[in-house]
Amino acid sequence: RAFTEEQPFRQRLLVVANRLPVSAVREGVDSYHLEISVGGLVSALLGVKEFDTRWIGWPGVNVNDDAGQEALTKALAEMRCVPVFLDEDIVNQYYNGYCNNILWPLFHYLGLPHEDRLATTRSFQSQFDAYKKANQMFADVVNKYYEEGDIVWCHDYHLMFLPKCLKEYNSNMKVGWFLHTPFPSSELHRTLPSRSELLRAVLAADLVGFHTYDYARHFVSACTRILGLEGTPDGVEDQGKLTRVAAFPIGIDSERFIRALELPEVQDRMREMQERFAGRKVMLGIDRLDMIKGIPQKILAFEQFLEENPHWHDKVVLLQIAVPTRTDCPEYQKLTSQVHEIVGRINGRFGTLTAVPIHHLDRSLDFHALCALYAVTGAAQSLGAGALLVNPWNITEVAASIGYALDMPADEREKRHQFNFKHVTTHTSQEWAATFVSELNDTIVEAQLRTKQ
Ligand code: F6P
Repeated sequence: RAFTEEQPFRQRLLVVANRLPVSAVREGVDSYHLEISVGGLVSALLGVKEFDTRWIGWPGVNVNDDAGQEALTKALAEMRCVPVFLDEDIVNQYYNGYCNNILWPLFHYLGLPHEDRLATTRSFQSQFDAYKKANQMFADVVNKYYEEGDIVWCHDYHLMFLPKCLKEYNSNMKVGWFLHTPFPSSELHRTLPSRSELLRAVLAADLVGFHTYDYARHFVSACTRILGLEGTPDGVEDQGKLTRVAAFPIGIDSERFIRALELPEVQDRMREMQERFAGRKVMLGIDRLDMIKGIPQKILAFEQFLEENPHWHDKVVLLQIAVPTRTDCPEYQKLTSQVHEIVGRINGRFGTLTAVPIHHLDRSLDFHALCALYAVTGAAQSLGAGALLVNPWNITEVAASIGYALDMPADEREKRHQFNFKHVTTHTSQEWAATFVSELNDTIVEAQLRTKQ
């Protein structure tokens, strides 16, 4: 709700991302309902309340007729969202193709698709053209809604061309771009046929942000090695124009979770869960069903743990929520069958008449159910000293860490939890967005001062 409230006295922020915070789901030929979208980008940005925000993005369905587009535009306007309508062919080539089949695996070090490299090479150019076309369509909509003084914050690998398109419309637009995935080493980025065009398009932004310092460093190296530009401690310089490049680690809206724990419906669900799993330790995994999340590796490690620790059979359960995603892509369909097969095998091997070791759900859960689960299990992510860090590719190491976590003494558990809790409540999504936008404002003021000198 916070997102939809009018904030007339605050700075206007146009968030441009491929996915809107709500997606339209087709009910009949001409009818849709809106659902909260899943994913890290959406949950981080939904917590940002300091600005008068409008969100511009693809509504998640193809709507070809004017009446349908008008109705959906109206429904989305109530959520302060503006749709960018893309037709089926563009979605296939831009979203399923170039974004999810080329950039996504490359940026996660899975390389370009190998299965039919030649075919990919042939289809590459048409997918890249569709990518540029889609980015231009986003730019057209942004330009229509833009008012002088707005901050335009572009997000993610879907929209690397957007800063360039926006600056071509209006070189005074304040444009930031933030990547929600890793940016790979320049050695990998150089294997991309469109490597230079993409870098140059991103460099049109005033500020370019990454999750970590390493990703920012990789980007700067790609610009120096591939484009021959100059890297400085502040970013990348091209003929006197500086594009600021920096790291802005993301966070969550921690207060929203803390407040929810007081709600009776969350407490009821926590009680239900505690009763349901009484006498067993609960391990929780919540991920989109994506190859980069390592779900098969995780459950194989759990299988190895059960093999090596028979005294834990019946005393531990792995609850894996695997939220379906990109279901039109064959790679994702293959992954779903693979995970089902492994889960079936493990439950067959270690299950009893009354209990199974893995509860696997192929769906998303509502916010209250998620809060109850987090509260019953605790959540450990890559939080430095608080978390147990593992090499996810090494199943033996993960299995050993599962055992260590389950047997961890209470005082160590408490100490680690305190550390993690402090981290997530300090480094929130609000802090992330406020720092990015204030850095963007400063970058522009500094650039204006430089030009005047
Ligand atoms: O990491 C990039 C990202 O945008 C995430 O923030 C998000 O969870 C995911 O991709 C969503 O992907 P899609 O919009 O394709 O479902």
